[in-house]
Amino acid sequence: MGLTGWVQERLPISGEQLRELTNEPVPNHLKRWWFALGGTPAYLFVVQVVTGILLALYYQPAPETAYESVAYITNQAAYGWLLRGLHRWGATFMVAAVILHQMRVYFTGAYRKPREINWMVGMTLLLSTLMLGFTGYCLVYEQLSYWGAAVGANIAGSVPVVGDFLKEILLGGDGYNPRTLPRFYVLHAAVLPTLLTLLVAIHIAIIRVQGVTELHFEDEHKDEPQHFNFFPDHLYSELMIGLLMMIVLTALACIAPATLGPKADPLTTPEVIKPEWFFYVAFRWLKLFSGTVAVVSTGFIVFTMFAWPFIDAWIRRKTRYQEASVWIGIFAVLTIIALTVWEAVVAH
Ligand code: HEM
Repeated sequence: MGLTGWVQERLPISGEQLRELTNEPVPNHLKRWWFALGGTPAYLFVVQVVTGILLALYYQPAPETAYESVAYITNQAAYGWLLRGLHRWGATFMVAAVILHQMRVYFTGAYRKPREINWMVGMTLLLSTLMLGFTGYCLVYEQLSYWGAAVGANIAGSVPVVGDFLKEILLGGDGYNPRTLPRFYVLHAAVLPTLLTLLVAIHIAIIRVQGVTELHFEDEHKDEPQHFNFFPDHLYSELMIGLLMMIVLTALACIAPATLGPKADPLTTPEVIKPEWFFYVAFRWLKLFSGTVAVVSTGFIVFTMFAWPFIDAWIRRKTRYQEASVWIGIFAVLTIIALTVWEAVVAH
């Protein structure tokens, strides 16, 4: 009995069954990247986990050591600068890929019945990805990390009813203290990645059960097959995209390496406090309205996004505006871009 026989005896899965499991035919439109963008954040998440584990070998999550350990990674550890650069740029690309994927799903109406649950799983993925970005930024313990965390905690504090509790849970006390950084670290390196892994597994399991939305285009030939094989054809495209991503990330990590600003100083508020680019929109919104109004309206917007498949179904049932979602989507995207650019160009 060879090795195959030995394994077969213990795991009685035939090659045929494996092929059936992995070789789901997928619709032709997945040949275009825009429609298969979901694979990109999944790939980038793996890059983040691998580079993150390597960074964790050197990172020390305490106020007295965090900044120095990041400086060590950047300036002394072998290829530390490269790992930091990949992790930083990987985060930016992952957030961008999640947003673009969500836009694709939105504008093709792929969240409609029966995919409402997966849209909501997706929204939780979006929020978890953003939280990963926020907590990671706080770990560097440079001025902006420290004050970013303080501002973030104050925002959590303005949530009605549970605000004080949330703030205390996040900081481990009334204000930033020695227990705060380990909390961000546990969230960033354990809780959120585990949550994301589980959510991606659920997201993909639901996609396997439902299949992706079938979309058709005017230029396609009706007499050609409408599907192609996931394995190896689609997987091969995904691997090529992964390779391209790796080249772009490495180039960016070399051309624009991750920098290190001045060390956190709890006694000196910086003149300008800015979060990462993906929070510009929320930050500008918060500056436009007073604390609680801004937080409650943000909560309402997030709730509306979660419930969008049901709101859209209601609009389609009750009115003759069958594609109102497209115009609402365009308005939302333009508003998000406008607020982001506004925050980017002004100091305060
Ligand atoms: C880490 C984040 C995410 C990963 C790894 C991911 C992964 C994927 C993959 C691989 C697909 C298959 C088709 C495609 O590539 O477009 C997909 C489809 C889908 N995703 Fe995501 N996704 C993520 C975030 C989101 C978000 C933020 C939303 C929306 C709020 C969302 C909603 C959906 C829906 C509704 C589908 C089904 C689309 C269809 O039927 O055509 N996903 N996702």
